[in-house]
Amino acid sequence: MSLQIAPSLLAADFTRLGEEVARVEQAGVELLHVDVMDGHFVPNITFGPPVVRALRRTTTIPLDVHLMIAEPDRYIDEFVDAGASIVTVHVEAAPHLHRTVRRIRERGARAGVAINPATPVHALEEIVTEVDLVLIMSVNPGFTGQVFLPSSLRKIETVRKLIDSRRGRAVVEVDGGIDLTNIAEVARAGAAIAVAGAAVFHTPDPAAAVAALRQASLS
Ligand code: DX5
Ligand code: ZN
Repeated sequence: MSLQIAPSLLAADFTRLGEEVARVEQAGVELLHVDVMDGHFVPNITFGPPVVRALRRTTTIPLDVHLMIAEPDRYIDEFVDAGASIVTVHVEAAPHLHRTVRRIRERGARAGVAINPATPVHALEEIVTEVDLVLIMSVNPGFTGQVFLPSSLRKIETVRKLIDSRRGRAVVEVDGGIDLTNIAEVARAGAAIAVAGAAVFHTPDPAAAVAALRQASLS
């Protein structure tokens, strides 16, 4: 089975966000990845709940909201109310993860936890059976167009094994620097979802780019 591709809107043209969404809709993507940054947890500032709400009005594709913000508990309700289908928080930003994850699920969204490249997999051990998704960052978060860190591959394998050993249901999503040259290895390591920003939107035909990534993930 090919990987699911979640195009990251961080790499889209913000002056025509609706058209950019329509272009990847044509490719039948299963998720749209929305990178929320606060200029504090990461050195960039992007979208808030109003943009998520606007996206929700323009598409039926599930919105995969990646919170790169400090104190994410303060904003969970707002993002779910705005239309997030998945809310992912960073383990580095959420000290009371069980409470955070429970809140996301109580509000009716799927819950994800993310780890930065320098965070060891064991930080997930106590939470992995409670979540729907584990997001492994393959760049230091903040910007689109960075280079994939090769050490992420071993990490994907380790996380997948951890989830299986605990009989968890979580899928593994990988985010950062994914392109045609590395997506097959990402798939082989055990990922189910690949986020792709520049590799989709910094191309002349984003729908064709999604199709090419799916195809390459099978090789
Ligand atoms: C990075 C974000 C990513 C980013 C991916 O901080 O979390 O989702 O937009 O973009 P590419 O695929 O260009 O690395
Ligand atoms: Zn992201």
